[in-house]
Amino acid sequence: MRITVNGHLHDLTVAPSSTLLELLRDQLALTGTKLVCDRGECGACTVLVDGATVYSCLTLAAGCDGAAVATVEGLAAVGAQGALAPLQKAFIAHDAAQCGFCTPGQLIAAHALLLQNPAPTDDDILHAMSGNLCRCGTYPKIVTAIRAAANGEFSNPSTGSDAA
Ligand code: FES
Ligand code: FES
Repeated sequence: MRITVNGHLHDLTVAPSSTLLELLRDQLALTGTKLVCDRGECGACTVLVDGATVYSCLTLAAGCDGAAVATVEGLAAVGAQGALAPLQKAFIAHDAAQCGFCTPGQLIAAHALLLQNPAPTDDDILHAMSGNLCRCGTYPKIVTAIRAAANGEFSNPSTGSDAA
């Protein structure tokens, strides 16, 4: 199969039963995406497939043949020496991660939200993030961080309104 991950094209052989999460973590060593519940309940494994959020633990890798996937590793600015994205800076500044295990999935879900809705209300944020659980209970800080990123508090001056 062929799959593009964070802008890089890969030719891979996968077992019919392999999940997209296993492809990312075990074959591509992209371990930012986390395995927690392994049954579609927590959102820690959230990635984008052709722009839509999916739980990669429930997504068959073979079904992603020809797809473009974005993971948390792809959020950092390409060509900017790994500079963090505004959303990542906002999560740090607003202390939105404690253990951090849910954070990659939270960031991808928030990124997808801001791509579709650059000026979300708090209700929009809560609705968009409802599939991502945080056992540490940092929900208020996650909402604050997403609101801050949407408001441009952490935008790169050289890229203007890059909220996500
Ligand atoms: S690990 Fe996939 S939804 Fe929890
Ligand atoms: S920060 Fe620990 S599960 Fe969310």
